[in-house]
Amino acid sequence: MVVGMAERLELIDVRKSFNGKAVLDGVTLAVPVGKSVMIIGPNACGKTTLLKIMAGLLKPDSGQVSVNGVVSLVFQEDLMVPWMSLEGNIGLFLKLMGREKNDVAKMVGDVASMLGISEYVSLKPREVSGGTLRKAAIARALTLKPDILLLDEPLIELDSDSRQSVIGLLENLRRNEKMSMFITTHYPEELESMVDTVYYLTEKPTRVKQSKAITPHV
Ligand SMILES: Nc1ncnc2c1ncn2[C@@H]1O[C@H](COP(=O)(O)OP(=O)(O)OP(=O)(O)O)[C@@H](O)[C@H]1O
Ligand SMILES: [Mg+2]
Repeated sequence: MVVGMAERLELIDVRKSFNGKAVLDGVTLAVPVGKSVMIIGPNACGKTTLLKIMAGLLKPDSGQVSVNGVVSLVFQEDLMVPWMSLEGNIGLFLKLMGREKNDVAKMVGDVASMLGISEYVSLKPREVSGGTLRKAAIARALTLKPDILLLDEPLIELDSDSRQSVIGLLENLRRNEKMSMFITTHYPEELESMVDTVYYLTEKPTRVKQSKAITPHV
C-alpha cells in the first residue's frame, strides 16, 4: 500500500456492515507522519471496528486503507493469557512470529524497562494491578516496533492514579520515540495534551462529524 509521505495512515470512505447493518458509513480520516489523533464517539459506533481495519485484522466492505509503516494495536480488553507470566504475554507476538528465544527475551526486557514494569514481569496477570496490566498490553504492542500505535480505550477501567501513570507513559512514547498514536477514548480531557487532532464520530451508521486540530503541550 503506497501513500504520500505526508500521511502515516489514511482511510478514505471506509464502509463496513455486520449482518446487513451499516456500522461505518463512509469514514475518511488521516494521521500525518509524527502526529497523533484521538477518536471520540458514542458506544458501539464502530471505534474498535475502525482500529481493527487500520491494523489489517478486518477488511472493510469498500473504501481505501493506506498504511505507511508498521502498525500495532493495543486491544480494548488487555487480552492476556491468564496462565502465562507478564513476560510470556509481552513476548507472545514475537514468539508466535518464530523469533529466537534470546531475541524475544531481550526485546521483552527492553520494553518492560522502558515502561517501568520490569519488577512485575515474572508475575501472572491476576497478580498485578490494572495499570500494570495495561502497561504490559502496551509493552506487547511495542515489541513489533510500530511506527503507529493504535490504542483502543487505553484508560478504560483504570482508577485515576493508574490513568495518570498510563498517560505519562504515552507522553514519553510520543516525546522520546516520536511514535504516532491513534487513540480511542472516553477520557478526552485527560489525553488532549498529547494529540494533534480530535475526530468526533456520529452515532451509527457512523461518519466523521467533526475534526478539530489542537496544539499539544508536549
Ligand atoms: N464481528 C462482529 N459481528 C457482528 N457485529 C459486530 C462485530 N463487531 C462489531 N459488531 C457491531 O458493530 C458495532 C460497532 O462495534 P465496535 O465494537 O466497533 O464499537 P465501539 O465504538 O468500539 O464500541 P465501544 O464504545 O463499546 O467500545 C456494534 O453494534 C457491534 O455490535
Ligand atoms: Mg470499542
